[in-house]
Amino acid sequence: MTEILIKETDTPLDKQYQLLIKQMRNLLNKEEKLISNLANASAALKETFDKISWVGFYLYDGGNLYLGPFQGKVACTRIELGKGVCGTSAKEKKSIVVPDVNKFPGHIFCDVDSRSEIVIPILKDGNFLGVLDIDSTSFNSFDDTDRIYLEEICNFLSIEIFS
Ligand code: SME
Repeated sequence: MTEILIKETDTPLDKQYQLLIKQMRNLLNKEEKLISNLANASAALKETFDKISWVGFYLYDGGNLYLGPFQGKVACTRIELGKGVCGTSAKEKKSIVVPDVNKFPGHIFCDVDSRSEIVIPILKDGNFLGVLDIDSTSFNSFDDTDRIYLEEICNFLSIEIFS
């Protein structure tokens, strides 16, 4: 099967997310393994947005976050709850938009070129499953529009993809 992702770079951000989410609903499905779905989810995000330098999942094992499927440079494999942006989002169960990573206390530098970041927690029936972590090498790459649509993507993953 040939998988093709369509992207429209010259349309408003919300339209780009709407097109991506529509395609994700076809690309990802519960018949496939979780690792395959998360791998394609991270690839689809990276392919759609040039501003993304790193995108991936850190999954919760009941104690720490461990590195899951991702696209980008090699990254740290384990993050403690409360540490860095991912660990803070995991602990507080809330999305965090970081316009300048240098100003986030305890930010974990996996890539020295990273400048801004957004982290979205994934919860199912109140249980914490992990986070979606996205980095950019430019400052101020993510805003409330990104947050709203990425939360929609994580909600879809929680309901349709995680068992
Ligand atoms: N910057 C993250 C660590 C993960 S890497 O960006 C892939 C953080 O502070 O949580």
